[in-house]
Amino acid sequence: MEKFFSFIEKSPTSYHAVENIRQRLEEEGFLSLEEKDSYLLEAGKSYYVVRNDSSLLAFKLPKNSPKGFLLMASHSDSPCFKLKEEPEAITQKSYVKFNVEKYGGMIDSTWLDRPLSMAGRVVVKEGKELKTKLINFEENLCIIPNVAIHLNREINQGFAYNAQVDLQPLWSGQEDDSLDALLKEKLGNDQEILGKDLFVYNRQSGCFLGKNKEFIGAPRIDDLECAYGTLEGFLQAKAGDYCNVYCIFDNEEVGSSTRQGADSDFLLSNLERITYSLGKREELSQMIANSFLVSADNGHGLHPNHPEKSDSKNYPLLNKGIVIKYHGNQKYTTDAYTGAVIKAICKEAEVPYQIYHNRSDIAGGSTLGNISISHASIPTADIGLAQLAMHSSFETAGSKDLEYLISFSKAFYEKEIE
Ligand code: CO
Repeated sequence: MEKFFSFIEKSPTSYHAVENIRQRLEEEGFLSLEEKDSYLLEAGKSYYVVRNDSSLLAFKLPKNSPKGFLLMASHSDSPCFKLKEEPEAITQKSYVKFNVEKYGGMIDSTWLDRPLSMAGRVVVKEGKELKTKLINFEENLCIIPNVAIHLNREINQGFAYNAQVDLQPLWSGQEDDSLDALLKEKLGNDQEILGKDLFVYNRQSGCFLGKNKEFIGAPRIDDLECAYGTLEGFLQAKAGDYCNVYCIFDNEEVGSSTRQGADSDFLLSNLERITYSLGKREELSQMIANSFLVSADNGHGLHPNHPEKSDSKNYPLLNKGIVIKYHGNQKYTTDAYTGAVIKAICKEAEVPYQIYHNRSDIAGGSTLGNISISHASIPTADIGLAQLAMHSSFETAGSKDLEYLISFSKAFYEKEIE
């Protein structure tokens, strides 16, 4: 669990999550591919490709011609605040605030009165070249203070935070402070900064909670828990007859329709290129039909204070295993067949599973599985782990479930169920 906490801490943004996964894959001997170059692939070798620094696909080619693809997909982003292009524009008296907008749908109140930091990527000009650099301040850089209760007696009666007024982080007490100067200091040089994708994040470390350490708390559990668990299973799985693919997509929290999101050609284009470079151009449709995708994104566990928010029967609990998600209107892709595949794998691997349905009068969330199959129409199921307080800046999950996901993922990638 300490390794998982450390992964979360080192991954304040999707850029950092992908960079940490990339480094891990390099250590494991994976070879880097660039989408702008041609793919010359060799059977038995493992590769990865990154798009726009924040989505990644890794795959292991079997020694023999693969029957199809076995894929698991999660997302690299979490709700947070994004700095605007001119971020220190708001100055009042001796306060300098970051001018931010919301990225994704967060629980606003959980971002106030706690130490926040900033991370992301910047683009600098080096000679004639534009270079991207990751940046992470890893220090208590800013805070969003609440208004005192004496000045806002209504706050406990259900208060709506206004994003432009109430949620702007306080950063400095010196009016002439500029973020670019701070960034240059952090980068250790005086290069011109021409682009920024910077985010404010919660600095709190992951920890165990509860009398018997049965719970964990951390920022970004949705969806870094699935990103981490499926990666471990992917790396541990022995080679079989399929091409195993690990996917992590950015921008799930804002609808996935970006160049690197699940609603792009990133997956399909790479599956095509893998198939073609193995000399199986005619067999692409056959390969896709003979594949299976598991979309892994966390689900809502039964809430201790609000059990009425869950379905009367199909509710998951923390520490009780993989959650298989179903939805009548197909926001979750699981059907009788794909759900049966997941259950059979769980039984074989002795991993407990449980079922999630929304209450029939609550719309619930959505995820990337059904978006992804609109591009590559692979048989798909939606799973996840049960958690509480989804999209809080600090979420809660069960301390046993990550191991269940790792065991499930390994068993999935070693699939023997046909
Ligand atoms: Co999610």
